[in-house]
Amino acid sequence: MCGISGIVHSENIGRNLFNSIRNLEYRGYDSCGMAMLRQGELDLRKNVGGIDEVNSLEKLDQMQGSIGIAHTRWATHGGVTQENAHPHLSPNRQFVIVHNGIISNYQELRERLLKNGVVFESLTDTEVFVNLLEESYSNCNDLEKAFLAALGQIEGSFSIVMLSSHDPDHLYCVKKESPLLLGLGEGCNYVGSDLNAFLEYTRKAVVLDDGEYVVLGKNDYQIRKLQTRELVEKKVLHIDWDVETSKRGGYSHYMLKEIFDEPQTVRQALKIPLGQISGLATMFTESSRAYLMGVGTTYYVANISQYFFSTLADRYYPALSSDEFSVVNVESGDMVLALSQSGETYDTKSSLEYAKVHGAQTAAVVNVMGSAISMMVDQVIMQGSGPEICVVSTKAALAQTFIMLRVALELGRMRQQITLDVYQEHQRDLELFPQMVEQILNEQSGFVRNIARATSHVEHWLFLGCGVYYPVAMESALKMKEITYQHAEGMPAGFLKHGTLSMVEPALHSLFFVPLPEQKDLHDRTLIAMEQVKARGGTVIGIMFQGDERALAVTDQAVLLPQMSALCAPMAQMIMAQMFAYYAALDLGRNIDKPRNLAKSVTVG
Ligand code: AGP
Repeated sequence: MCGISGIVHSENIGRNLFNSIRNLEYRGYDSCGMAMLRQGELDLRKNVGGIDEVNSLEKLDQMQGSIGIAHTRWATHGGVTQENAHPHLSPNRQFVIVHNGIISNYQELRERLLKNGVVFESLTDTEVFVNLLEESYSNCNDLEKAFLAALGQIEGSFSIVMLSSHDPDHLYCVKKESPLLLGLGEGCNYVGSDLNAFLEYTRKAVVLDDGEYVVLGKNDYQIRKLQTRELVEKKVLHIDWDVETSKRGGYSHYMLKEIFDEPQTVRQALKIPLGQISGLATMFTESSRAYLMGVGTTYYVANISQYFFSTLADRYYPALSSDEFSVVNVESGDMVLALSQSGETYDTKSSLEYAKVHGAQTAAVVNVMGSAISMMVDQVIMQGSGPEICVVSTKAALAQTFIMLRVALELGRMRQQITLDVYQEHQRDLELFPQMVEQILNEQSGFVRNIARATSHVEHWLFLGCGVYYPVAMESALKMKEITYQHAEGMPAGFLKHGTLSMVEPALHSLFFVPLPEQKDLHDRTLIAMEQVKARGGTVIGIMFQGDERALAVTDQAVLLPQMSALCAPMAQMIMAQMFAYYAALDLGRNIDKPRNLAKSVTVG
């Protein structure tokens, strides 16, 4: 995915447009650029590298003009080169565009244009579109018609913003299966691929739907349907995200800041009205079969939730990775619950579409307001975690886990699997959790940092857990891989002896997620695996609870958490593992907020 931004103003916007793509940098950071109209001429600057790097070369923030577009790229078609970076300018320098998504028929369009003598500068699918614009405009001399005629020739999923010297007052925008929103200001308007493009300037937003295009001026905007050109009236949303929470504050990285946001994130998750939680729980009771779905981290949150439903509500709902969901034969009467921070992930969105087409009911827990997934499902819970800027998910994943725990608890009560006393006791545990998160963050970060520093040279890790701690181990291994680039394999502790034990030697480190001793069966099983590793000379690190002398006896190093309820213990361990990965990556000098090859939300298949 990439970041798009556009501004129409009456004043110079160079600095604001630059800030705007800087706020979107987490969406992609291979290369970036800006194009502005100045005295009737299009000025284009772009290059390879992160925003600040490109700015120091190209002086993006010093560009002049009152209308412009900008882009930060995560390469899909065409390598990371200056030519392939956006914006793309037409050969006659009269049209410039930024594009997210994929023009799926670009090869055949390119071949046709090549035959007509067009010379391409880049290897992108995007460049065909500026050439189509130039061609269409020469046929009709009308910018809006040319825009529509060019759009009529492309297939695929895309959001595009065009600026042309033929209309110095408007940006032309279109959305099809790739997010695009408008931001409405006073005497200025904005367009962006997500709210962070303009949150610093306005809280009023309009979410575009697929198949809509916009002619955006500084004081006016017209949204029309692509098919019929019919005008569309849209609701203006007020965004209550706090700009300050999306800033890094005093923290050295967004990831650390977002980990330290977690007490607040859990408080927000607690504030979600019970009616919404029980509404979702009711949906489960009314479905004949239900599936939990997510991808990457959200797949692991779905896995953790699977254990919550089993233990609290005696219901087994399989967790599936969104990219593999099409193996399921869903039908009317079934329900699919998706988890997604961005609400735009292609794999999850297309699997929800598949579920809907087959008649299933759909629901989602989503963080980003106005996102495609939040708008397409039958029931949605907005998690309210605030902007998550770091590419890896921490606070959003924790909040989703907490929300799913609330839903499972509610379902358990509805299905009379837990008594009222137990339900109330669990509710009290949940209410105490934000304070507990605060405490462990403050007390444990030093210890975690020391262990991470002492082990940051380790290239191969096993992350092991039993029961609900198993998906916690899987998620934690993913976090470790994402930001340290070291190999970490998550698996059930009991699985180890069925093969992987052969790899154990002192250099292979094993991180165990040790349950509370009172979770006797899980604890015993974890201890057996720890002893198996220890006996073969492996190095054992444990995230465990104070007073667990048995586990302590077989660990080389340990993070010791305070006693807490069994309900919250897996989430506390998840936080410690996030912090562990953070400090290991810090010691290795990794680009923590923007790890190589990744993007915040993956809107392509
Ligand atoms: C999380 O750390 C990852 N960057 C990634 O696995 C992510 O969770 C996944 O792509 C799903 O994204 P979503 O929550 O925005 O749908």
